[in-house]
Amino acid sequence: MDRYAVIGNPVAHSLSPAIHARFAAQFGERIEYLALLAPLDGFRAAVERFFAEGARGANVTLPFKEQAYELADAPSQRAREAGAANFLSHGERGIVADNTDGAGLVADLRGNLGVRIAGATILMIGAGGAARGVLAPLLEQSPARLVIANRTEERARALAARFASRGKIEACALERIPRLDFDLVVNATSASTLGEPLALADDSMLRPGVVAYDMAYGAAARPFLQRAHARGARACDGLGMLVEQAAESYRLWRGRRPATREVIAELRAGRA
Ligand code: ATR
Repeated sequence: MDRYAVIGNPVAHSLSPAIHARFAAQFGERIEYLALLAPLDGFRAAVERFFAEGARGANVTLPFKEQAYELADAPSQRAREAGAANFLSHGERGIVADNTDGAGLVADLRGNLGVRIAGATILMIGAGGAARGVLAPLLEQSPARLVIANRTEERARALAARFASRGKIEACALERIPRLDFDLVVNATSASTLGEPLALADDSMLRPGVVAYDMAYGAAARPFLQRAHARGARACDGLGMLVEQAAESYRLWRGRRPATREVIAELRAGRA
């Protein structure tokens, strides 16, 4: 049986094993997909052992996505642009790394939520690894304008400079967000995962007609989504993105892209 895993720390509550089990069932395929806890100082050793034992591939989650990119023998362009990988596969070319997070976000926005990215004015809050991982795929959809706002302005500037050749992208501090009619506001900060309030004093951009998307899901997404909802915006969590990046991973490993809608619905209903 082909073996896969999601490798992270912590990883016990990952939904990825349930998602991939659903995908395999769609095709009548038998795979094994585990949640593998790697020690914080032992990611590389854990990956090497897993592949030495014959595993086919792994998804990588926090805090190892940068390390996953660095250990790859062959990183994809998407992984290079993100400087991080959430996908590894093991084959003749050694360890191949890719990043399916951005494709997952775009698929969720466009396919599941019916959000138009082309021509949209987008606000990305946060300039860490999560934001960096999705910028190139977002810009590929030709938004009219993408503003990165970050608590530490310098990081937003560095990120905008890194992707300047890919589209109309600009940077600002969180307290100096330009008063534009944003169509889409993406929360890519780790504030709620860290259990901190989001340092966003003025949230007047969250208003009716705006899609407010938190890349987290479950309890971690709640504070931002409640705030967006209270202001009349359409609040969406990142559960669909999680399932879509998994579907993209499954396709890369096994050649067929699973259907996602029902899996998302089952997870929402707590049935998966
Ligand atoms: P990740 O890989 O999850 O993106 P990261 O690279 O540490 O993690 O980045 C975390 C992001 O969340 C950063 O943009 C961070 O802002 P700073 O660059 O100013 O640190 C942002 N962030 C974390 N806590 C925040 C908070 N309470 N309010 C606003 N932004 C926050």
